[in-house]
Amino acid sequence: MDARRRRAERKATNPQASAVTIEQTKSPKTMPPAKDLKFGHQFTDHMLTIPWNEKKGWGTPEIKPYQPLCLDPSSTVFHYAFTLFEGTKAYIAPDGSVRLFRPDKNMERMNNSAARIALPTFDGEQLTELIKKLVMVDKKWIPTEKGYSLYIRPTLIGTQEALGVGPSSDALLFVICSPVGPYYPKGFKPVQLYATTEFVRAAPGGTGAYKLGANYAPGVVPQKAAAQHGYSQNLWLLGDEHALTEVGTMNLFVAFKKPDGTTEVVTPPLEDIVLPGVTRDSAMQLMRDHASGKTKVPGWPEKLEISERKLIMDDLVQAEKNGTLVEVFGTGTAAVVSAVDKIGYAGRDIEIPCGPAGQGMGDIAKGLLDRMEAIQTGVIEHPWSVRAE
Ligand SMILES: Cc1ncc(COP(=O)(O)O)c(C=O)c1O
Repeated sequence: MDARRRRAERKATNPQASAVTIEQTKSPKTMPPAKDLKFGHQFTDHMLTIPWNEKKGWGTPEIKPYQPLCLDPSSTVFHYAFTLFEGTKAYIAPDGSVRLFRPDKNMERMNNSAARIALPTFDGEQLTELIKKLVMVDKKWIPTEKGYSLYIRPTLIGTQEALGVGPSSDALLFVICSPVGPYYPKGFKPVQLYATTEFVRAAPGGTGAYKLGANYAPGVVPQKAAAQHGYSQNLWLLGDEHALTEVGTMNLFVAFKKPDGTTEVVTPPLEDIVLPGVTRDSAMQLMRDHASGKTKVPGWPEKLEISERKLIMDDLVQAEKNGTLVEVFGTGTAAVVSAVDKIGYAGRDIEIPCGPAGQGMGDIAKGLLDRMEAIQTGVIEHPWSVRAE
């Protein structure tokens, strides 16, 4: 196949940002006051849709008024969980520009999720351009208050109208947006985890490393069980050694003090168990840059080491005993950082330090939160912060 034909074919089978049609809403809604925003409960005026069919490829992208989807009850999404999603945010920078945070990472993960359940993949750069257009059409919905942003939810579902488990011949990619406030509106409060040995979130060869809808509904009963035990989220373990994997729907970081005074921050390896979080990857990069002296993060110890290695519950039990357990926190797009002050395990609580009184988190979590927010909102210019205009 010659290069021209290959290019033409690629074009035909990818969503084309330049082909987008835009229909403005005739009945714009009023944005609720910032204080009334509830995470993921209010939506903007517009949405993006792109249909796909195995014969025709990707269809015309449309930005149109936010509206219900009309789907046949036999659609594959309803029966076999052909659905996957992403979560990212847009922010208003101090110069008034609109910023996305590392959208390429979300596109990469979305394509990996699509491939895992035989839904169509796409050119991530084209979808990023379309998301930028959507966000600009709904720019007035991006709250400007500190800690507020526009949560963006790209979703891909199977829409073939037929029962039977197999690859879906039709799909629909859509993107909706929701103005959101800070995850902890009343100040940062550490969370308590229940290290569950009754349920698993992910297993080798399974789908834990993909952002599939099918991974989330089964987490709700364990979440309710954790709440019944008096904890806010689950710490997901794996195997007889009780290896730590993730916390609730966040990636996990544990900081230890080493005998030579170095602080070692450990996060479990991805393998095919852990979701490759964009915040996780960013945190690791910032820690590596701090350790190498490239870019120092205020508040972080001089001697810092970041390790991606297996951690088992016994490591935490021993570290608590030796006084070398420094911090535990989760990372994710919604909260950025969530500190942990207690882990219920084997009938007792492991107590974890949480920084100076009133800070609600240790110094590593705090330094990370401040640096991430500064980059995301364009207060510090960084290649990760991408202009939407
Ligand atoms: C299971 C799980 N782990 C980790 C994360 C954190 O990923 P990110 O930092 O990309 O939001 C999320 C949220 O997206 C998640 O659902």
